[in-house]
Amino acid sequence: MQIETILNNQRVTWQIAPDEMLADTLRAYGLLSVKQGCDTSCCGLCTVWIDGKPTLSCSTLAYRVKGKEVTTIEGVQSEAAEFARVLVAEGAEQCGFCSPGFIMTVLAMKHELKNPTEEEIIHYLTGNLCRCTGYLGQLRAIKKYLGVD
Ligand code: FES
Ligand code: FES
Repeated sequence: MQIETILNNQRVTWQIAPDEMLADTLRAYGLLSVKQGCDTSCCGLCTVWIDGKPTLSCSTLAYRVKGKEVTTIEGVQSEAAEFARVLVAEGAEQCGFCSPGFIMTVLAMKHELKNPTEEEIIHYLTGNLCRCTGYLGQLRAIKKYLGVD
């Protein structure tokens, strides 16, 4: 089947299978920032925005984004670079596998939460897993980025 959607501010037409997941469609159309790290909708690596809300693309049928706005990190490069600079300054940069989904979640958090507490930040990040860190560096960087240091 064919659907139209807005991908990173551009109208696109996709050919998809009825049971195809959005993560697979995005990768098939060259959005290789979108990664998959689990089969259980629990790692957050595949996070993209649908109409501005962070969403797991691995468990969203591609058909569901018909007529909606889909944003991947390719579409928010300057915002992502700004946060990346803060991450690096805190020595908290992450691998290329988990970073895109993590950064999409943090950027969405910045739009959604005003002056969040540490508990609210941690709660917002619940669905984003990294297998390698204790999250403290990332938490420091996020607080700095959000201006709630
Ligand atoms: Fe793990 Fe989507 S691939 S939540
Ligand atoms: Fe990417 Fe931990 S740094 S999974």
